[in-house]
Amino acid sequence: MQDINVRTPSGTYDARIGHGLLASVGPRTRAAAGGHHAFIVTDENVGPLYAEAVATSLANAGYDVSERVLPAGEGTKSMGQLASLLEAMAEAGLTRDDVIVALGGGVIGDLAGFAAAVYMRGCPYVQVPTSLLAMVDSSVGGKTAVDLAAGKNLAGAFWQPRAVIADIACLETVPRERFIDSVGEVIKYGVMCDPELFSALEREPLIPDAEGRGRIEEVVSRCIAIKRDVVAADEREGGIRQTLNLGHTVGHAIEAASGFTLGHGSSVAAGLCFIARASARMGLCPEEDSRRIVDTVAAHTLPTTSNIPTDTLFEHALSDKKRHGDTVNAVLVRGIGAVEIRPLSLDELREVIEIGR
Ligand code: GLY
Repeated sequence: MQDINVRTPSGTYDARIGHGLLASVGPRTRAAAGGHHAFIVTDENVGPLYAEAVATSLANAGYDVSERVLPAGEGTKSMGQLASLLEAMAEAGLTRDDVIVALGGGVIGDLAGFAAAVYMRGCPYVQVPTSLLAMVDSSVGGKTAVDLAAGKNLAGAFWQPRAVIADIACLETVPRERFIDSVGEVIKYGVMCDPELFSALEREPLIPDAEGRGRIEEVVSRCIAIKRDVVAADEREGGIRQTLNLGHTVGHAIEAASGFTLGHGSSVAAGLCFIARASARMGLCPEEDSRRIVDTVAAHTLPTTSNIPTDTLFEHALSDKKRHGDTVNAVLVRGIGAVEIRPLSLDELREVIEIGR
């Protein structure tokens, strides 16, 4: 078990990583957030598996507990679901001294976190991530959001949780395909700033078999520690936090253009390969490093490219939040463990997509 202390200008909290932590959600929530009423937000996949254990722990810690179970999937990250969640919180009599508990993957964490950010102008919440993607990325750092018709995560807020409780045992019920999808984000961390993590993934793909399970807690802790350092330096994404978007400009475009049929991590993995190849062709990244990145993505059975036409990807990339007027801040690869943020004109962005495919 490990505690990683996350310090940002708007909030300091611990991310605890370990096996069998659900029974401690109540006392940890009490210590981190206080309140009388705990409102669990979960989905139809995760709720039946873990909501009872979490509700019991919260009740034993003295909370009145309510629960809202939402449909699973990206479609739940909508303004409509946000509105009905806020109405349900009001109906349950939640006050801003109470606490929301986000129990699930990235969709639930982002939606419940955004609800916490706006309910009564902000109330405490705790992240209990149950997917690898939510553990290594979305539960830490305070980005909360819903999607708009125009693009992913276009309405949201920076709102830090009071605690993150990542129970590695929850990953045992994640379908293998979904687990591997999330490894796209783990490879991203390696390419971004951790050559040792990258080499470990290159040597041996991270898969959820008996051997992989032993590595997972260590990998999750490493990714959270990287994210802790980045968000401590730049909570609001004015600078270095943009490096966490490595692979995301093209990745979000692939994800949206696929109608969200391709998972987020798989889309990021393909986006990472686009950017690695384009960076090599621009003379920024050694060809050998670009090849190693593509091979490592392929070794995880993740996609290394996309057959979606360049113009379609370009159109989707234009609605990305990383656009600033006539430029888009792209994260390019200088080599394994080193990236560079570079403003690209829209023509250059189109070119990067074209030469990266
Ligand atoms: N997922 C990227 C970030 O939290 O900044």
